[in-house]
Amino acid sequence: MTTETGLQDMMHGSIFVLLKRFVEGTYDYSTWVRLLEKVGVEHSSYQMQGMYPTDELFAIVHQASEDTGISAYELMEQYGEFLVPDLLLVYKKYIKPEWRTYEMLLNTEESMHGAVKKEDSRTSPPKLLVTKQGENRLIIDYYSKRRMCGVAVGIIKGIAKYYGETDMVTVTRMSDPYAERVQILVDFNR
Ligand code: HEM
Repeated sequence: MTTETGLQDMMHGSIFVLLKRFVEGTYDYSTWVRLLEKVGVEHSSYQMQGMYPTDELFAIVHQASEDTGISAYELMEQYGEFLVPDLLLVYKKYIKPEWRTYEMLLNTEESMHGAVKKEDSRTSPPKLLVTKQGENRLIIDYYSKRRMCGVAVGIIKGIAKYYGETDMVTVTRMSDPYAERVQILVDFNR
């Protein structure tokens, strides 16, 4: 995948380090090593502060899908859900203790993805437009040329799980899973 400037699209190391943790946690270390071998990733580790090609992440996920029979979309969603506790730990200082799922989602664009960009100007997290519709619904408009809305849906579910609110949060994806623009409804049953 290339960017508008013709350069290879890169993503922050945290996303890759946590992908490794996801594969190790769900399967095992040797599964991870085999996946890297199969897709031809040369370097043996990912560093938190590094930047790596987005294509590598897709190659690993597609290979894992082929090996497990689980769709790449489903794997992306599982991975998104899995990474939340670690991601929140890394960016802990930007989170207000009184926030729950609703507030976290409302503040993601400004506080969280804002913090990601501030801490590392090489990053380009997706644009999330979050709007309130009534008291109990948030509409999240995801926009990214990377087309990773499975990860977005997974992160939302992961945030609800993190706050122990899974039972009261329903996440509905309104568009094609691989679209660039995807509307996600988050309903709060409280
Ligand atoms: C709550 C705290 C959050 C933190 C700390 C966080 C952090 C990050 C970071 C570090 C990246 C990599 C960016 C890059 O390398 O350019 C990223 C990407 C991403 N984030 Fe977040 N994020 C958060 C919340 C969310 C939420 C709520 C969603 C979904 C609604 C979301 C969806 C995504 C997706 C899908 C990507 C992959 C890249 C892309 O689609 O273009 N994030 N995030």
